[in-house]
Amino acid sequence: MDAKVNKQQLNWAELGFQYHRTDYRFCARHVSGSWNQGELIESEIIQAHEGAPALHYAQQCFEGLKAQTAVDGRVLLFRPDLNSERMNMAASRLLMPEVPRALFMLAVEETVRANYSWIPPYGSGASLYIRPMLIGVGENLGLRPAQQFEFRVFVSPVGPYYKTDGMAVISLAVSELDRAAPNGTGSYKVGANYAGGLLATRKAQEKGADEALFLDSAEGRYIDEAGSANIVIAMKDGAFITPNSNAILPSITRKSLMVIAREQLHLKTEERDIDLRAEISEFEEAAACGTAAVLAPVGRILVDQQWHSIYEDGQTVGPIMQELYDRLVGIQIGELSDAFGWCHEIKI
Ligand SMILES: Cc1ncc(COP(=O)(O)O)c(C=O)c1O
Repeated sequence: MDAKVNKQQLNWAELGFQYHRTDYRFCARHVSGSWNQGELIESEIIQAHEGAPALHYAQQCFEGLKAQTAVDGRVLLFRPDLNSERMNMAASRLLMPEVPRALFMLAVEETVRANYSWIPPYGSGASLYIRPMLIGVGENLGLRPAQQFEFRVFVSPVGPYYKTDGMAVISLAVSELDRAAPNGTGSYKVGANYAGGLLATRKAQEKGADEALFLDSAEGRYIDEAGSANIVIAMKDGAFITPNSNAILPSITRKSLMVIAREQLHLKTEERDIDLRAEISEFEEAAACGTAAVLAPVGRILVDQQWHSIYEDGQTVGPIMQELYDRLVGIQIGELSDAFGWCHEIKI
């Protein structure tokens, strides 16, 4: 296939974070104990048995990463090895077969290459979101693992997760609903965690916030994470902190930001319990981070029916988050040197 076709005629800068059908997706099947080699297909429709465990018992997991066009035209992924690793952690937790790293990478690369025309151009602010997924399929009724599995990768061009360009300042509302139990599945990227979060997000939005903020479900005291992003905080004493919780998704963005903060901004970084009510007055800056959110400063937090502004006007972007955002995005789109070896080029 000649991948170097013209780009689609899309208004890239206007894209939101929505599904946009592209031409190809990759699909592999695990039957009788082994994976087939998989192939690119055109149909976005999955034919699933009505008894499929993915549908009844949420035996499924997924990943999310982005391909971006760099300043020099290369197509870059950001730390895809960590997505492969995280998907396999979830697979093991839910008694699904691991997806070999080579198959994961092949599927991601082939799908991006085949949909070259859908990769947003450099400078558009948009990117190609990649969604690998692993689902338990086939006939089943009782609560037991599926006998067959499908691994699929599809892509969609997307714009910013939050409405505004660049760094969107968002607000969070503490949720009275829990997201994950301490020894549950909160640290795995499994669909079961997200269905329960839908109502929490809706309630947060009804209160005027962009997202729900979950506290630890044992005590309702320490920060866990937002609905689809981890939390990082710059403290007034100069420390750069993030929650130490086994109920949150180990965010690849957060992991990378902590390295940039420590190695390049020379901040004292720490993963520790963060007691929201006791410490909020010590927050200098706060932000939500993730592949979709990138780094979104948190301007206000609704705690116990009371709004707390992190900045005077609840709208400002602070200098530390701005610097971190610029460095992270700069690395991801090849404007800054890839000092940590995080970018993976897809040869088109
Ligand atoms: C619940 C949750 N937390 C955090 C993140 C951020 O993780 P990452 O930086 O790996 O995208 C995501 C998004 O993937 C998420 O869904």
